[in-house]
Amino acid sequence: MPLPTHVRIIDVGPRDGLQNEKQAVPAAVKIELVQRLQDAGLREIEVTSYVSPKWVPQMADNHQVMAGLTRQPGVRLSVLTPNLQGWEAARPDRPDEIVVFGAASEAFSQKNINCSIAESIERFAPVVQAARAAGIAVRGAMSCTVGCPYEGAIAPERVAYLAGLMKGIGVQRVDVADTIGVGTPLAVQRAIEAAQQHYAIEHISGHFHDTYGQALANTLAALQMGVSNFQSSVAGLGGCPYAKGATGNVASEDLVFMLHGMGIDTGIDLDRLVDAGVFISDFLGRPTPSRVARALLNRRQG
Ligand code: HMG
Ligand code: MG
Repeated sequence: MPLPTHVRIIDVGPRDGLQNEKQAVPAAVKIELVQRLQDAGLREIEVTSYVSPKWVPQMADNHQVMAGLTRQPGVRLSVLTPNLQGWEAARPDRPDEIVVFGAASEAFSQKNINCSIAESIERFAPVVQAARAAGIAVRGAMSCTVGCPYEGAIAPERVAYLAGLMKGIGVQRVDVADTIGVGTPLAVQRAIEAAQQHYAIEHISGHFHDTYGQALANTLAALQMGVSNFQSSVAGLGGCPYAKGATGNVASEDLVFMLHGMGIDTGIDLDRLVDAGVFISDFLGRPTPSRVARALLNRRQG
């Protein structure tokens, strides 16, 4: 399988990244972060979620953030909508894509969205139908496709089952997510193969948390299967409040450096991306965990 020549990155930092921050991040900071990502050449950004503010207080400013953005043509902004209430709240903010999010693990589904996998699909179905009728794209996030903080290892059959359910309700593309970053390359390939039972490879994206330092290796394993869509977080932000111990997504800076080094085009300006990472890391008051950003910043100083 030849490697893709172009990869599309969805930066999920503003949503997956910031949702896990304890300190309140003002809407103005989130807006500036999204602007900086657009300016760095990101063409897909996951901005916010329309979930219960009691569950995830950090995303309670979803309307304010969406309303404050200067939209750039050709940039797809996505938002998470777990149910009809979320969809109805999101709709006036004109997202380009909505994301329903399910799990390959029953226990994680319960902890994260308070219902079983089967119930989640019942909740998603009218959301998908309404979004598609409104001409809005629909993506399905599939959590815990290799491991679950509550159930341990997840069999590929569970991923195939969930992907089949997502396909059945009209979800157009899916994310194979390693929520807690325990996946290693062959396990990730098995999960992607399972998703391929229902989705073409161009409709599958890799979403790898870097908790155990495996995310770039897993990305390479996915690239070798022809996956050309990946999710990452600027400055390696992230984690899921319902997946204890899960740290950030692979840093966008690290992903871009690897892809460009392999001659794979992303359309992203790495220097401007590093600056966006510095902006949010400075606000959060901690150094970026991105090794590439740290190396480039050292070189700038030298
Ligand atoms: P529930 O309690 O089952 O919902 O929560 P409910 O329908 O019984 O309603 C209970 C209350 O929630 C009511 O309010 C509703 O109005 C409110 P009350 O009367 O008590 O004041 N409510 C909502 N409020 C705002 N927006 C909504 C909404 N729906 C109900 N859409 C629910 C179900 C899904 C809402 C809840 O469990 C929730 O918000 N969970 C948070 C899920 C979340 O955001 N998780 C993190 C994102 S997933 C992730 O990070 C993984 C990913 O990155 C991939 C990977 O790495 O694996 C995507
Ligand atoms: Mg995630």
